[in-house]
Amino acid sequence: MDVFGVDIGGSGIKGAPVDLERGDLATERHKVLTPQPATPEAVMDGVCEVVEHFGWRGPVGATYPGVVVDGTTRTAANVDKSWIGVDAAGRLSERLGAPVTLVNDADAAGIAELRFGAGRGRTGTVILLTLGTGIGSALFTGGHLVPNTELGHLELRGHEAETRASTRAKEEGDLSWQHWARRVEKYLAHVEMLFSPELFIIGGGVSRKADKFLPLIKGIKAEVVPAQLRNNAGIVGAAMAASLAAHPADQALPPLPGPSADPGPDLGAAAGF
Ligand code: BGC
Repeated sequence: MDVFGVDIGGSGIKGAPVDLERGDLATERHKVLTPQPATPEAVMDGVCEVVEHFGWRGPVGATYPGVVVDGTTRTAANVDKSWIGVDAAGRLSERLGAPVTLVNDADAAGIAELRFGAGRGRTGTVILLTLGTGIGSALFTGGHLVPNTELGHLELRGHEAETRASTRAKEEGDLSWQHWARRVEKYLAHVEMLFSPELFIIGGGVSRKADKFLPLIKGIKAEVVPAQLRNNAGIVGAAMAASLAAHPADQALPPLPGPSADPGPDLGAAAGF
């Protein structure tokens, strides 16, 4: 079964129908540039353009780079502040004439990685961190997601972590891989102290260059691995969330190894345990 996924990012709005059995795009994705300023109306125009490019009619899942509760966007760290308090899922769904499920971008990437990527089959505490313009986080235990964890905004030595260890901080500070890896390591050590995960999955565009910085990160007890779905994790995870909202007992999602607990109709179940 295919469901449409859209990933709303700081530079681009990307989407495609997703093959939920393979956990991959069913066709090549379409991308439009994120309008600046990235106001709700302007971004929603972009989302509609991407969906309409495929002539898609049916449920749509979309990501948002901030806290989303029941379809309402509650924070706007790296997008226009006018997103705060908007029933974004409701408005998008009116414009597209179809149900829209909206989820935090890192949560979407996390559910995709846990089901199809680097976290497949892992039942302990797993934390995915996306290092990009900001730092996004997705926290799982027993395959279930705790949504909207926002661990990028943890304070470390008087600074918000994402202002020190995001890839934007690396670029703006013109930091060497070594220097930036030290910051990422301190951040991981802090998150590890709080949650003792068995696995960290590092996502975001920089995961493509994992060989440049992951070997420099030492002293973390958990395994630290790059994300596997790379650029498409958000699109795939958004489609998974939409599919689950449309069909809570969706059998089209293949079963995974691991304890066969009742998955229940929540996002965590999308991770498949
Ligand atoms: C936001 C998160 C988001 C992350 C990555 C942070 O600034 O607060 O919600 O997941 O950036 O986009």
